[in-house]
Amino acid sequence: MTAFKRILYGGDYNPNQWPRETWSEDIELFRKANINSATINVFSWAKIQPSENEYYFDELDDIIDMLSKENYDIVLATSTAALPAWMFKKYPEVARVDYQGRKHKFGQRHNACPNSPVYQRYAQALATKLAERYSGNKNITCWHINNEYGGECYCDNCEKAFRVWLKDRYKTIDAVNKAWNLEFWGHTVYEWDEIVLPNALGEGIGDTATAFAGISIDYCRFNSDSLLNNFKMERDAVRAVSPNALITTNLMGTYKALDYFKWAKEMDIVSWDNYPAYDTPWSMVAMCHDLMRGLKGQPFMLMEQTPSQQNWQAYNSLKKPNQMRAQSYQTIAHGADTIQFFQLRRSVGGCEKFHGAVIGHVGTEDTRVFREVTQLGKELHSLGDELLGASNPAKVGIIFDWENYWALEYTCGPNSDLKYVDQIHQYYEYFYEKNIAVDMIPVDADLSKYNVVVAPVLYMVKDGMQEKLESFVENGGALVTGFMSGIVNESDNVHLGGYPGPLRKMAGVWVEEIDALAPEQCNAIRFADGTESTCHLLCDIIHLEGTESVADYNSNFYASTPAVTKNSFGQGTVFYVGTQLEKQGLEKVLDLVSAESGCKPIIDTTTNLEIVCRKTDKACYYFVINFTKEVLPLPEIFVGKTDLLSKDILTAEYTLAPYDVVLVCVED
Ligand code: GLA
Ligand code: ZN
Repeated sequence: MTAFKRILYGGDYNPNQWPRETWSEDIELFRKANINSATINVFSWAKIQPSENEYYFDELDDIIDMLSKENYDIVLATSTAALPAWMFKKYPEVARVDYQGRKHKFGQRHNACPNSPVYQRYAQALATKLAERYSGNKNITCWHINNEYGGECYCDNCEKAFRVWLKDRYKTIDAVNKAWNLEFWGHTVYEWDEIVLPNALGEGIGDTATAFAGISIDYCRFNSDSLLNNFKMERDAVRAVSPNALITTNLMGTYKALDYFKWAKEMDIVSWDNYPAYDTPWSMVAMCHDLMRGLKGQPFMLMEQTPSQQNWQAYNSLKKPNQMRAQSYQTIAHGADTIQFFQLRRSVGGCEKFHGAVIGHVGTEDTRVFREVTQLGKELHSLGDELLGASNPAKVGIIFDWENYWALEYTCGPNSDLKYVDQIHQYYEYFYEKNIAVDMIPVDADLSKYNVVVAPVLYMVKDGMQEKLESFVENGGALVTGFMSGIVNESDNVHLGGYPGPLRKMAGVWVEEIDALAPEQCNAIRFADGTESTCHLLCDIIHLEGTESVADYNSNFYASTPAVTKNSFGQGTVFYVGTQLEKQGLEKVLDLVSAESGCKPIIDTTTNLEIVCRKTDKACYYFVINFTKEVLPLPEIFVGKTDLLSKDILTAEYTLAPYDVVLVCVED
């Protein structure tokens, strides 16, 4: 399934920041670079609504005309992500209040209080006006609502809205007291208006945590919903005028504050902005792509990437020659149907003047970046629509759950170094390195299509999950879970009766105590074959309940007790990893899981190349990418095939230099 007729190739374009003479130069250069799409009107609210009752569309009309004449796929943004100055001045309530209780002034972006009726009214009006004016234009391919929704607000409007949200969720004040366990410290509330938002001046502990994680988790749910309501409001305004419009907003990978699985249900297509740092592992980038594909289980848009460098990280290294191309194909390999840059022309001032762009400050085509963009444009053009909508079949599902993410990181103890995304990534990395395809899945996914489900640090086990996981395993699935799992319910109250609570029966273990290790401390585990491996962070002290030990600890007072276990349950198996294993130890456990569950790499050969398969009704497309620093041989299975990008016939001597890519199509 695809939303597009061709691979969209372009990106954020802000001609409104430039004199008109520049526009025609841009178009000339874009033509040369095979650009066919532009995302416009992202930050133009101040220009199109210069005062409360005045709208000015002439310039946007001209921009849209110009791009339509070139037959662009236009991604039209609604401009509501940065408020105009007049709105702050006249309606101070639109400004956010931060966790420290400070009311913000005019400035910055992503700065509206999501529960401000004034902001909502004007954002909705703007979306409606844009839809009325432009939705008839057949070059408007996609609507881009707002931009990178995010952040929090702790103002009085939000506090009132939080109480309404809570009433809807809990119905009675007693239920709230119980959910948050407010009897602890006698923080019992009697009336709804006694409930305050979590903040530094109230329940706050440290930067963002509070004395009652239950309150913080509900605030996260509420804040995510508040921003989602903003999105839905604009989306519905566009839909009211243009019922078939394709509507998205750009997400940010594992961004913590928003429950993207919930968001994706409201979006027609997922789009996201990929900005890895110079030292981000390629497996992490791949995981984020898979997560973004997993949100809807469908191809996604790469709304933004830089053609060369960022400006907002500490060290904004350049992408090396060919790196942007390799990253772009990695993106397509994992499910993208578009490649879009931020941005098409480098801005003259403001904090992003050092941010990479297709056209640099020199203003000519004579740059390395422009040449690389042009080459990729040519290749994507010649690929045509063949790959659009192709799927990514996978037999391994890794659970990612935002509520669990919040709960795990808000909890006080046992080890504050525990980070959710890193925990998920270490499992993902194993499969990535083996070229075993993975789906990133929500807790309510259909598990029946997977051989293996991995649920690391499944700290929060909500109603219904026990039954769901048990039936997956009973029917022959392999479940991998481990420390800090099965601990709390959806309100962060402990599942009593022994850890890992609802997972205890299927895992066949009782965790009596959890030891926390400081960074300078470690333990080690010993596998049955005598192999040893270090472990860190947390050590579960485990009792076997009819299950077998895969590896035991070898020091501390719990030496010789089980650290990793394996339990047969129904026709399937549950692996429980009770400590933070170093890479080689985890690999050994996961080798066992893969062997037992018949998980196969995309090709049989062992290689350090990244290999990903996208599949259509007619064919499998193999992306072969070299993200290492060595020259690597082409796996034999591809010898004799044609590389769709270079059109070369691949010989037995063929090698891939760093950042080289080969794309091979094998018809079914
Ligand atoms: C984000 C924003 C863009 C731009 C880029 C810079 O993704 O959406 O407007 O600021 O970052 O990297
Ligand atoms: Zn607010």
